[in-house]
Amino acid sequence: MNFNYYSLINDSLKQATLDNFEATSAELYEAKQLVLSYIDSFDKKQNLLFTGSYGTGKSHLSVSITKKLMEQGYECLFLSLPKLLTKIKQTYNKEGITEAELLQVIQRVDLLVLDDIGAEQRTVWSNSKLFEILDDRAGKATIYTTNFNSKELKNHVGERNFSRMMESTDVIVMNGSDYRRREFISGEKLRQ
Ligand SMILES: Nc1ncnc2c1ncn2[C@@H]1O[C@H](COP(=O)(O)OP(=O)(O)OP(=O)(O)O)[C@@H](O)[C@H]1O
Ligand SMILES: [Mg+2]
Repeated sequence: MNFNYYSLINDSLKQATLDNFEATSAELYEAKQLVLSYIDSFDKKQNLLFTGSYGTGKSHLSVSITKKLMEQGYECLFLSLPKLLTKIKQTYNKEGITEAELLQVIQRVDLLVLDDIGAEQRTVWSNSKLFEILDDRAGKATIYTTNFNSKELKNHVGERNFSRMMESTDVIVMNGSDYRRREFISGEKLRQ
């Protein structure tokens, strides 16, 4: 089964690279250094969790990692969790890719990015799908991004999912101003 890798990524993130990531604060600089060393020492096992406020570049850095590692021949997949869950539901009543095929690809790749954890609607079903994915990927590299802190995340995904997500996982905190709104904040848009 074939995925068009870039069809799954928002337009605004398609251009994201490590080179065009601006480290505008000490925290973001530190995040970039951690990402560089993650790529350098990629072992198909270590996980990362990006946490922080909106628009600070968590998804940007995650996409950048997949680009670098794909250049090195690794198979990577970037999926927003809410979109993935919608896609899984679509497989229930449509011809084409089955849920089993979709989960097989997710299980197989060297690196999976599960973007936007916590933006999905929390239901018993969503948590059990997340459980399947996390359990299938035990021992394989996964990157998570979320706006939640650890307590909120644990509440949202449940203890069993949280425990799996935190195993062999380095946490990268990225707070700061929203890059999407930077022009407005600097007043440039008002002056135009
Ligand atoms: N430090 C940065 N340097 C360059 N571009 C950035 C930076 N931070 C964010 N961007 C750009 O701003 C947009 C939003 O960033 P991104 O999607 O990575 O934020 P996020 O932290 O994932 O936010 P959210 O929590 O809302 O998902 C993207 O187009 C991204 O490329
Ligand atoms: Mg994001």
